[in-house]
Amino acid sequence: MSFDFDTPISRENTGAVKFDGRKQYFGTEDVTPLWVADMDFAVPECVTRALQERINHPVFGYTLYPESLYQSIIDWFERRHHWKIERDWILMAPGVVPSLFAAVKAFANEGEGVIVQPPVYFPFFSAVTTNHRKLILNPLRETHGHYEIDFAHLESCAQQGAKLLMLCTPHNPVGRVWNEKELQEVLRIARQYDLTILSDDIHADLIYSEATHIMLGRLAQPGDKIVTTIAPNKTFNIPGLGLSALVIPNVEQRKAMKAAFETLHVGNTNPLSIVAFEAAYRDGDVWLDALMKYLESTRDLVADFLQKNIPQIKMIKPEATYLLWLDCRELGMTDPQLRDFFIRKCKVGMNPGTVFGEGGSGFMRMNIGTARAAIVESLERICENINHNNFK
Ligand SMILES: Cc1ncc(COP(=O)(O)O)c(C=O)c1O
Repeated sequence: MSFDFDTPISRENTGAVKFDGRKQYFGTEDVTPLWVADMDFAVPECVTRALQERINHPVFGYTLYPESLYQSIIDWFERRHHWKIERDWILMAPGVVPSLFAAVKAFANEGEGVIVQPPVYFPFFSAVTTNHRKLILNPLRETHGHYEIDFAHLESCAQQGAKLLMLCTPHNPVGRVWNEKELQEVLRIARQYDLTILSDDIHADLIYSEATHIMLGRLAQPGDKIVTTIAPNKTFNIPGLGLSALVIPNVEQRKAMKAAFETLHVGNTNPLSIVAFEAAYRDGDVWLDALMKYLESTRDLVADFLQKNIPQIKMIKPEATYLLWLDCRELGMTDPQLRDFFIRKCKVGMNPGTVFGEGGSGFMRMNIGTARAAIVESLERICENINHNNFK
């Protein structure tokens, strides 16, 4: 079966943040939007079909989560991740970000510490600070473009009385797929210092061919306190539908998470999200495999282009996600200059690295989840401007 990821689909005037939010974020609409983490591709046909079938029924009342939805999760994680999940471990939730916030409320009291490992997806910080918990940073260590968890420092963070570790796995924005040894070390520290781990595995399905993602929950032993967030949102490009799930084997932890959500009364969702979620996990495998091949070719093309034409910009080769972490430090610009250069001169709208916290200065995050031609054109504009010293 073949899928068309090359023909552009216009998303303008659909309310798409990535397109219709450009003026607000970049101050101009005249940029190729390579920022917000969704893709410009059509969802798999199984998802569209399921939505159409549901729309044919003209009543959209309060809706239960059907057993078939839970089964689609159980089957997907067994099939794709060799992780056996029990039905009782699953809690449905709105998007993953609400779960980050709820986990902070559930597992740390006001003033208590939560460990976050920057540079990282920015709601990890706000989940802690807006809830008045203490942010304890364990910055990732970068050596020649390779990122690692600083375990000695993580242990010292845990010794400061932290209650919760927020793990991004795979890690947005640096694209690391943590290996088994690294995950086991995270677990060891969590056990020793009685930490709960919020394992955000939203990018778990977007893995390139050289890497293997291991769900942290699969390595867990009885008594481990692991709350895993999962969703087909990134995988199948349906984040606008706003439904995710939590997998929590430990009954006490499950109760705590449920209680945190109950204070906000966010248990319900809409019938369209449910059918899309279930159809994606039930029938989306072939589409996903094709998507990953396409993204991998684009990723490799970007690496090759930069190496040959713009060696001053170094791509941190991601093992997962359609998000590329670009090291632009050699361009010698300040962060505001860098942002301005890409927007005004190159007309490319990326996320500045600084929004991901410590370690983000001098970096940009490029989203390649779009037709390859748009990426090539963007790279050519960047190249032209750099070669003409247009930033000096
Ligand atoms: C690590 C991570 N978690 C969560 C989200 C967002 O999840 P949701 O849209 O389901 O709230 C993103 C989106 O970029 C992400 O990168």
